Amino acid sequence: MNQSPFQPSRRSDVAPFIAMDVLAEAARLEAQGRKIIHMEVGQPSAPAPKAALDMARKALDHGRLGYTEALGIRPLREALAAHYRKAYGVDVPVERIMATTGSSAGFNLAFLAAFDPGDRVVLTAPGYPAYRNILKALGLVPVEIEVGAETRWSLTPAHLEEAQKEGPVKGVLVASPANPTGTMMTAEALEDLIRYCDDAGIWFISDEIYHGLVYDGDERTALETSQNTIIVNSFSKYYCMTGWRIGWLVLPEQLVRPTERIAQSLYISPPELSQIAAGAALTSVQELEAVKAGYAANRALLLDGLPKIGLDRLLPVDGAFYIYADISRFRSDSLEFAKRMLHEAGVAATPGVDFDPVHGHEFLRFSFAGAHEDMKDALERLSGFLDAGR
Ligand SMILES: Cc1ncc(COP(=O)(O)O)c(C=O)c1O
Repeated sequence: MNQSPFQPSRRSDVAPFIAMDVLAEAARLEAQGRKIIHMEVGQPSAPAPKAALDMARKALDHGRLGYTEALGIRPLREALAAHYRKAYGVDVPVERIMATTGSSAGFNLAFLAAFDPGDRVVLTAPGYPAYRNILKALGLVPVEIEVGAETRWSLTPAHLEEAQKEGPVKGVLVASPANPTGTMMTAEALEDLIRYCDDAGIWFISDEIYHGLVYDGDERTALETSQNTIIVNSFSKYYCMTGWRIGWLVLPEQLVRPTERIAQSLYISPPELSQIAAGAALTSVQELEAVKAGYAANRALLLDGLPKIGLDRLLPVDGAFYIYADISRFRSDSLEFAKRMLHEAGVAATPGVDFDPVHGHEFLRFSFAGAHEDMKDALERLSGFLDAGR
């Protein structure tokens, strides 16, 4: 039988995000009346800061929302420049800051501006799965390097040297703190890697989306080391604005105009309402620090409680709101384990296979962005579940 000529492209053949499948299964159980504790989704449960909501309401009352410049509205970009001065002591010209439709659009734009089809870009495994999926969909080649305890789950110049032997590396993408591990690079390790990339002419892309959510260690922006770095950031996590789809890029000067040109055609501009609200979120420090204190309390509870019920092999939780737990002593099929845990204990978590095709079957990612009472409940439920599985 002849195959129809109307087929999806080869580049669209990217892996599904299993976390979303877990979410769908959890919703089915909830529809049957079960109470499920959600530890699978990586998003804050708090709403956007009050000042952001007020600004948005005002803008809605005002009437017209339209396209903006592709780079974003000037007040937001100026507020971001002020944020870099205040948070990191770094001067960034407003001209190099660009608002984007979430960091997700930021990745698309940065990859398109910096790379040509076939270029190799190094990522960590475990890592955020969208990186490799976006790269693949754009015709780029993700080079995933397995990282482990010996380098504190971070890439090193030695990893890059090794990767260079198999072909030129055009870019490196690092998140610190990272998803799914929650682990952060030390300031020295980050600086060494950036300097290596600078010397080797490799674009260094720094996903700083979990900045602001650091419990242990010293948070640094890659801009402190090199102005050649590409910074990707977002209002989704610290600022509790996932649904507003608003983020930003800080670009090296030579990438600004190319990125702007691509953005004009791909997205026209990020949503104006979200840009207006985001500017106000930047000033809502007190409110956001209270939300962060809630995560810190959840983190402390779980870091104390999980080892007591048998989950004692956890990666260092320096930041973000994730605990990446080694479950191999119970089972080495995280997908099956996550399904049983959801059905039997009513706790939803994400199997590691989403983040790491090689070792992910031995890990589960728990998000602790939810309510404190839910975290307590989860510990009790997991205790019974794990006891039964021993
Ligand atoms: C490491 C990392 N980067 C980027 C994103 C994308 O976020 P957004 O597009 O909402 O800014 C996520 C979302 O979970 C993430 O975990």
